[in-house]
Formats: sequence, structure tokens, C-alpha cells
Amino acid sequence: MSRIPFAVMISGRGSNMVALLEAAQEKGFPGLPVLVLSNRPDAKGLATAREHGVPSLCIDHKEYGANREAFERQVDAALRASGAQFVALAGFMRVLTPWFVNRWSGRLINIHPSLLPKYKGLDTHARAIEAGDKEAGCTVHYVNEGVDEGMIIDQIRVPVLDGDTPETLAARILPKEHELYPRALKKALTRMSSR
Ligand code: GAR
Repeated sequence: MSRIPFAVMISGRGSNMVALLEAAQEKGFPGLPVLVLSNRPDAKGLATAREHGVPSLCIDHKEYGANREAFERQVDAALRASGAQFVALAGFMRVLTPWFVNRWSGRLINIHPSLLPKYKGLDTHARAIEAGDKEAGCTVHYVNEGVDEGMIIDQIRVPVLDGDTPETLAARILPKEHELYPRALKKALTRMSSR
């Protein structure tokens, strides 16, 4: 079976990106990473991608000011030039416009550190603790025009423990993200190749 070329979009550390790049090295994985793209020049993940032998590129959103679509047209062009047919957002911290989302519809997924539909947006761990939730977790979903709203592909739940801070909860969830994202990407790519 031929592997689907995919890109990973990041804004920072890139630990989920690493989980995806490492999973893609395993025999039988349905995707091949062709590009890591960051919207921030200082994203640590850019160098990590290169260490993993994957081409990396920065398109700095600040150069486009308030013109989100101009930024996204460059991103779209770079993705297409790389041959990517699928995109995984991994800590990519820019909201994408309907123009971009519709162009990649069904081929664009994201990881979010909460049990969606709970806690869309930022500060998810603090909000779960504040609400007194007994469980938190992470979700991978297709991206649609809403923020953190598209169809859910998979989730992992973890307990919230007495005395948890946003930091301790984040540290319990992050390894689960690294387990979840490759599994969910595999599912989405397999689904795509059987369409
Ligand atoms: C991850 O926890 C990811 O779920 C979150 O940012 C972190 C990125 O870490 N994403 C979002 O909050 C998106 N709304 P990483 O750069 O080490 O993968």
C-alpha cells in the first residue's frame, strides 16, 4: 500500500510532531512525513524535525500583519509544493480561516489537550481543575470552521488527582497525547485511503 504524504504544522516545542515522525518510521504506517511547517521562527520543533531528516520551513505569520489569508496562501502553497495530501496540526497556535480549512477539508486534523467538546480554546487544564472535573484528557479531531469543533477521531482520558495544578495535569496528559496522535493519524489516513 502506498503511503500518504503528510505535513505537520507546529508553533513551538514539537513533542507531538516527534511522536508522529517516529510513528511514521514504523513498518506499515500509512503516512510519510514530507514537511514540518512552523508559523514561528523560534519554534524548537523546527530543528528537531531536521534532526529527524524531515524538511522544515518557517512562514512567519507576523510578516503578514492582520492579513490571515495572505499568510495562509503561502502556507497552502508550501504544503502543496511539498506534495502533502494531509496535514496534522501539532501545537499549531493560530486559528485558521474558513478559506484554508475548506481547502483541506477532511484532510486536516488537530490535537487538543482536553476532552472535547469540553474546554475549547486555551488554558484547558486550569479550567478542568477549576470546574472540579474528575477526568481530563486529550482529543484528536478533524478541523472545521469552528475552533476545536470538528468530528472527533479519538480521545484518551486521564484522572484529575487531588492537588493537581495545571502543570502536573499537563504532565500527565502529554504522554497520552503522544500515544493518541499517531493512533488517530493512522486511523484518519487509513480512512482516507479507503475512500
Ligand atoms: C500540546 O499539548 C497540544 O495538545 C496543544 O499544545 C501543546 C503542544 O505541545 N495544542 C493546543 O492547545 C491547540 N489548541 P508540543 O509542541 O510539544 O506538541
